[in-house]
Amino acid sequence: MVEPAGPYTPQVRTSGFFYVLQPQRRRGPVFAASAGRHWLSGQRRKDELMTATLVAKDVSGGHGHRMLFSGLSLTVAPGDVVGVVGANGAGKSTLLRLLAGVGQPQQGSISLAPADAFVGWLPQEHERVPGETVAGYIARRTGCAEATLEMESTAEALGSGAPGADDAYARAFDRWMASGAADLDDRIPAVLADLGLDAGPDALMTGLSGGQAARVALAALLLSRFDVVLLDEPTNDLDLAGLATLENFVTGLRGGVVLVSHDREFLARCVTRVVEPGPGAEQRGRLRRRLRSLP
Ligand SMILES: Nc1ncnc2c1ncn2[C@@H]1O[C@H](COP(=O)(O)OP(=O)(O)OP(=O)(O)O)[C@@H](O)[C@H]1O
Ligand SMILES: [Mg+2]
Repeated sequence: MVEPAGPYTPQVRTSGFFYVLQPQRRRGPVFAASAGRHWLSGQRRKDELMTATLVAKDVSGGHGHRMLFSGLSLTVAPGDVVGVVGANGAGKSTLLRLLAGVGQPQQGSISLAPADAFVGWLPQEHERVPGETVAGYIARRTGCAEATLEMESTAEALGSGAPGADDAYARAFDRWMASGAADLDDRIPAVLADLGLDAGPDALMTGLSGGQAARVALAALLLSRFDVVLLDEPTNDLDLAGLATLENFVTGLRGGVVLVSHDREFLARCVTRVVEPGPGAEQRGRLRRRLRSLP
């Protein structure tokens, strides 16, 4: 069941370039701190979150006094693959950031239903994090690293009997389960092998070529368990086999996807809709033309 869209006021936890969104409002009953009941709560929530929907209403976005786009309305429901297109500097990454709940739109609103859905924002990373291994990168990009840290710190608070600690721990446990952190390390090697990567989980990201790093980014996406995923230029540096894998993944997802790409052929094969950030009326005209040009 989907709750009506509520105000979306996420706390954003940052870890390098990856952001896991942890909305403040929680739903449902409080779960007692027993492993069995936590497991059940994780299962229940996962089933519900299959129907997560992200809604942008009449959104304007930009930086400081500069408005890049206005009047942008968008619904990302399960099964939707929304392509975001536009010239360099048009505001595509700015739009994704707003959809991720990072910063406020200049006008309009962005809401998520249910408000605690697991939203993954995967910005393009131009720099590798020194010392980060392939497994560490994947844990960070899938949100598993953050979910594990949160669960460990709430477990510690639970042990010290802090007020409200059981609630916080139950929420953290649900998120940890939903992220797939429990068996992530076991799942990584097979995915790396399927993608033809000879680098193992312990290899350093800084030692990989651009193409290899792009495949590890793809591996992280394949291993992720987001309800809604926001991808900023995931096609860059992928070869044909990588593009085909990405296409299969994106079109087979049950959750919604928003995807920025300059690869028109890839977009034409994957997307169910296209948006082009820009000034209001002009944007709507361009959007109509884009829709007509899609197969
Ligand atoms: N934090 C910021 N502060 C001020 N201006 C910014 C900020 N981030 C981006 N901009 C500016 O906003 C404009 C849009 O940037 P954005 O990254 O959203 O474009 P884009 O459509 O994603 O471009 P590209 O195709 O090159 O990735 C650019 O002119 C950029 O310089
Ligand atoms: Mg961009």
